[in-house]
Amino acid sequence: MGLGVLSDGLAPTPPMGWNSWNRFGPFVSERLVLETADALVESGMRDAGYRYVVVDDAWHESARNDDGDLVENRWAFPRGMRNLADEIHRRGLSFGLYTDAGTRTCQGYPASLGNETRDAQRFADWGVDFMKVDWCHTAGLRGRTTYPKWTEAIRATRRPMVLSICEWSRDKPWEWAGSVGHMWRTTSDIADTWASVMDIAARQADLHEYAGPDHWNDPDMLEVGNGGMSDEEYRTHFSLWAMLAAPLVAGNDVRAMSEGARAILTAPEVLAVDQDPRGSQARRVRRDDVSEVWARPLADGTHAVLLVNRGDARANVVARWDEVLDAKGSRRGNVRDLWERADVGERDGYYDRTLAPHACALVKVAFT
Ligand code: GLA
Repeated sequence: MGLGVLSDGLAPTPPMGWNSWNRFGPFVSERLVLETADALVESGMRDAGYRYVVVDDAWHESARNDDGDLVENRWAFPRGMRNLADEIHRRGLSFGLYTDAGTRTCQGYPASLGNETRDAQRFADWGVDFMKVDWCHTAGLRGRTTYPKWTEAIRATRRPMVLSICEWSRDKPWEWAGSVGHMWRTTSDIADTWASVMDIAARQADLHEYAGPDHWNDPDMLEVGNGGMSDEEYRTHFSLWAMLAAPLVAGNDVRAMSEGARAILTAPEVLAVDQDPRGSQARRVRRDDVSEVWARPLADGTHAVLLVNRGDARANVVARWDEVLDAKGSRRGNVRDLWERADVGERDGYYDRTLAPHACALVKVAFT
């Protein structure tokens, strides 16, 4: 961890949780959020690490109250945000809430420009643990001068809150956000398609040096379980995010998810890669016509290696140890498959797998 980055210990590993946006858009309510919190507990997701329950855009009344404060929509949140936070905390979870740095949220609700201190205090009073600050309606503003106001506003509340910066990479946040917030979006919004996942992944290839404990690149929330991709594709999406040390924010209907989605979201050895305490984001060590290989060093001295078949036909993908280690010379590696949770054995010089279209293999390698 270098100088000039946050080191407050609030996000030592990438934050994990659930957010309403990808699946429910503006249709948020107290009932949805509490049913989801219960489902996070019952499905084992909370115990797997999914901790922040984040209410995204459109929780608001259409105007501030007479005191100038943001107000929750009373139809959707009849018992209020303070009560919702208490209910979430009672379930052993943490509470996240959304605002926007400009004049209106993306859905057109009141936003926080000029009210940063007031709104951070309002969130703190409600018991919020995680603030997502979006970037709609910010004409004339710059991320690198606007978000530090949020760092200050949160500090002034004296309540620890994760700051999730959401300016879609407009102002190259990796260059400045490490000292400002705990995570920052590196792209525009994800969609529930294979093309979107692979487009986002490609944009992360040069960002590994900017991430680490308490400051993470955020390639956006997960689409696992939302129906637009096959389980094979969702496994690749999830493996890429784990390699990228990405915040893992589920975006599906946890109350009604398939066993396949649950198995992906809670795969213990894959989650362990994402949450590895060393916090080193993967490098893309090879990209060919249809295949690519990513690698990241782990805290125990081993390496995680991801082999992906981007193509539409079966393909053999090769991970070479000299490329994984970025060092010449022949090496032997002991390979374990992290999805199968099974040892593969020793391999000299490389590991290769024939993969179905859009499939991946995620392995851990102990070099001897
Ligand atoms: C933007 C953000 C999304 C979501 C929506 C809500 O598009 O990038 O993650 O918060 O706004 O309106």
